[in-house]
Amino acid sequence: MINMKNNLAAVDMPGRTNAEMMERRENAVARGVGAIHPIFAERAENSTVWDVEGREYIDFSGGIAVLNTGHMHPEIKKAVTQQLDAFSHTCFMVLAYEGYVELCERLNNLVPGDFPKKTALFTSGSEAVENAVKVARAHTGRTGVIAFTSGYHGRTMATLALTGKVSPYSAGMGIMSGDVFRAEYPCELHGTSEDDAIQSIERIFKNDAEPTDIAAILLEPVQGEGGFYVASPTFMQRLRSLCDQHGIVLIADEVQTGAGRTGTFLPWNKWVYQRTSLLSPNPLLADFLYRESQAKLRLWTPSQPAD
Ligand SMILES: Cc1ncc(COP(=O)(O)O)c(C=O)c1O
Repeated sequence: MINMKNNLAAVDMPGRTNAEMMERRENAVARGVGAIHPIFAERAENSTVWDVEGREYIDFSGGIAVLNTGHMHPEIKKAVTQQLDAFSHTCFMVLAYEGYVELCERLNNLVPGDFPKKTALFTSGSEAVENAVKVARAHTGRTGVIAFTSGYHGRTMATLALTGKVSPYSAGMGIMSGDVFRAEYPCELHGTSEDDAIQSIERIFKNDAEPTDIAAILLEPVQGEGGFYVASPTFMQRLRSLCDQHGIVLIADEVQTGAGRTGTFLPWNKWVYQRTSLLSPNPLLADFLYRESQAKLRLWTPSQPAD
């Protein structure tokens, strides 16, 4: 049996300057995990971070846009501590517990729309996106997915195929698999109007795949990695209508924009739901992060086939 305690103790622990820590990082961490800032956090509180040399910073990155409560929020610390005093991990599918169900109930109540909702929790945004696509495929019996230029959906193989940006995410890795078709994201700044974007979908229907081959249209209602571009409510409604017309599942990836970051919990889906038939499948995903517990929770309200 491996003696973990002895193994960990065997690691040499040299200096504590940022430069020394960067050197250790370079020696120990695979280079696929990029390094944006050459500093190492020592502790943090709300929006302030201190590095290992005692310097103070304002944290504008917030765990890359998911640390909505700030660092070490007392309520979250309390909840995490209570949980760790009770039990750590069971695998909900094997041994259920009330907290999971209660969180799903509370999230369901926050999601707009006058129809029954259900939630599944995943450990990462990529996993949530992949599962939404899986449900769309099972529900429609189709395999195609339309995603958008500059969209970002994660770093797993399937989500890289959905991500509309080669560098730095999939450069050097070859063509990503999957029946993914790329539509233009509306962005006036780069000369793409809403009409252009809808026409690019129509072109896919004409040139690449029939609507009956498309399981889902997936987009970030507000693009994050792509440059903080916003799809207007009218564009979201036009997509909703297009999806209703062709029996396509509309998936809103709100991993970066959900959980109150735009002022209300999930504003973009509200716009879509307001004029959507309740019979249409409307998978929705969002996320938030309990930074203190290092556990990412993603929510997802699926359509009927996930019952
Ligand atoms: C819009 C969006 N979707 C999906 C993901 C992937 O989430 P994760 O890194 O937790 O897999 C991200 C991550 O930043 C994201 O911004």
